[in-house]
This record gives sequence, structure tokens and C-alpha cells, in this order.
Amino acid sequence: MPIKELKDVDVKGKTVVVRQDLNVPMKNGAITNDKRIRAAVPTLGDTLARGAGVIVISHLGRPKEGEFDEQFSLKLVAARLSELLGVNVTLIRELADAKAVPGQCILLENIRFFKGETKNDPELAKKFAALGQVYVMDAFGVAHRAHSSTEGAVRQASIACVGPLMAAELSAFAKVLDNPARPLTVVIGGAKVSTKLGLLDNLLAVVDSLIVGGGIANTFLAAAGFKIGASLCEPDLIAEAQRIMNKAKSLGKALSLPMDVVMAAELAPGQKVVTRDVSAVPDNDEMILDIGPKTVKLYEDLLAKAATVVWNGPVGAFETEPFGAGTKALAQSLADSGAFVVVGGGDSVAAVEGYGLAEKMGYISTGGGAALEFLEGKTLPSVAALI
Ligand code: 3PG
Repeated sequence: MPIKELKDVDVKGKTVVVRQDLNVPMKNGAITNDKRIRAAVPTLGDTLARGAGVIVISHLGRPKEGEFDEQFSLKLVAARLSELLGVNVTLIRELADAKAVPGQCILLENIRFFKGETKNDPELAKKFAALGQVYVMDAFGVAHRAHSSTEGAVRQASIACVGPLMAAELSAFAKVLDNPARPLTVVIGGAKVSTKLGLLDNLLAVVDSLIVGGGIANTFLAAAGFKIGASLCEPDLIAEAQRIMNKAKSLGKALSLPMDVVMAAELAPGQKVVTRDVSAVPDNDEMILDIGPKTVKLYEDLLAKAATVVWNGPVGAFETEPFGAGTKALAQSLADSGAFVVVGGGDSVAAVEGYGLAEKMGYISTGGGAALEFLEGKTLPSVAALI
């Protein structure tokens, strides 16, 4: 059954409750990346323009439930949303005060201050759903959580639907998973194999080619019999990495690991680096912190042939120079490729945006964990509730 979309619901004169994921990173009292707020603006602006009053719901961080805590307040988010939306967005603490007349937009304070939210308390879900006549799930980033304001409220609402952001996310991932233009190449990086095992397993069935880079590649290199020095590695998962490599082989899928690596004694700015072929990595105190130029060329060649690409996770410690060259080159080759490229996961998105290449990608997801779970083939509870 197709999921009901906000664009098909008559909202004129109604109060529309919109669950967004405005969980943005903050440092020293400032928002450091407002992508999720910007991504929410079209849904909210359009709903206001269609004559509805809008109550926005979001979480921020992981505060102790049931208690107000200033450091997790959505105050800065309300201010930024007001700027971007061009209307004054008032921040409301109490559910009893959450009322919006047509043309008005209010933001409810961090939903995780409400006791029961993360336990998916049905009574709380009922209260959220009852705030308006229409409940919109537009928070893809938190769609993998069955909480009162996500799965719970969607089930309780008399009219529940997805907003345009959530619809765009689901459609971008469907384009990749259901019937992708081939070859489909997936690049998986990041620090830990443990967080990506399900993903690697599920993707092997659908990809034509899998590229493994970043910290997780070290565990695979160790499984392939290479020395990795003092590099980040999950020894308990070496056997799993071996199994995944065998699975790729038996399915006839290419699984590419780094050919050469950039090493240093410490993960710190300005380190002296040595580039080595993986076969020449010594068993000493040095760490693998980026891919080398031969690997960059290998990736470029593989990506030039791809028609669809999914990228999740950086291929080096890109936030610390001089270990960002591999991730930057990867982002550039994706930007230059003619493939439909989906970028998911906070770090890869931050890298693409930092290099000013976001506009050149096919789709940039607002989801971190949610994007991973979706690619793992899991059904997201908030999506299941809408079907
Ligand atoms: C995220 O940033 O991945 C989402 O906002 C979900 O946050 P959570 O992991 O705290 O539920």
C-alpha cells in the first residue's frame, strides 16, 4: 500500500503537527551544521503557505528523560528556524500551550524532556497525536526509533502521513535498493566494522561492487593476512570480515580493499606521514590513517564505471590533516561521476559539505543510523506504522 503523503492531505485551516529531526550538532553555544534545519524548511514553509497552523516536534541529543536541561534546549534551533523560515517560531515548553493558528509556527521544546518518549509510551503518543488534526512524520533521521513522537503518534493519529523530506529520503533509497541503474557500487568507510556488519551483509546481495575503506578496512586487511601495525582494528570481528570476503567471492561480487595506505605515529594534526603498499605495512606502533594514491586511483576507476553509488563513511581520518586527502579525492570523484550518488551518514555528509561538493551529489541523506538501518534492509518502525 502506498504511504499517504502530506501533499495529498487538505490542511487548510487545520493544525498540522510535524515531527522533524532537528537534532543538529552544537559546539560552544552555536549550531555547527544546520543541514537538518534547512532540510525541514520546505515542508514547514509549504504547510504554512497552504493555510495551516504548524506545531513542530523534534528531539535534540539524549537528555535525561523527564527533566528540562538547558544544554539540550531547542532554543538555538528555534532561532535558526525562524531565520530560515522567515516567520517567528516560538519555543513552547508545555503541551497545554502547544497551539498554532493558521499561518503560525511553533516549536515544542525537546521531545525527550517528556517522560515516556523513548519508551514509546502510548498515552504520551496519544497526546502528541491530539495536538492537531494531521500528524506528519518527516523525521527520516529518527525513523528507526519506535518512540512516542515517531511510531507511537503515527499509529494514534487519525490522519498520519509522510512529509516531503521523508518521502524524498525513502524514494532516494528505494532508487538504490529496489531497481538501481547498474553497476551499483557501494563505498563503506567509517571507524568500526561492528556498526556496519549488517549493512555489508545485506548490501552484498544487491551490489555489483563493494569498496571498503576507512578504519573498518583495517579489520578486513588483517583478515586478508596483512599486518596493520597499531591501527584501529576489531580483532573479534576478523573472522566476520573473512566470512564477508568469502561471501563476496562466492557471489562473484568485487570487494575492494586499500592497496596502499598513509601511516603516522599519531592521529594528530601535522604528523609526518609515510605512504606504503599494504604488503609493506610493518608491525610497529604506526597507524593507518588514510588511503594512499594508488587506492585513490583504484576507487576513481571503479567509480567511473558505476551508474549508482552509495557512500557511507569516510575512508580516512579526514577531520585531521594530513589524513583527509583520500576522503577528499573520493568526494571529488563522486562529484565528477555521472552516477546517481546517494550520500548517507553524518561524517560523509559533513565531508561532502565541507568540500563544497554537496550540490553535485544525487541525494544527501539527513539520516545517520536510520540510513544505515534502511540499507541493512530493516523496516523502519515509523514507516511500518504508516503502511
Ligand atoms: C541521529 O542523529 O542519528 C538521529 O537524530 C537519531 O538520534 P538518536 O540516535 O539519539 O536516536
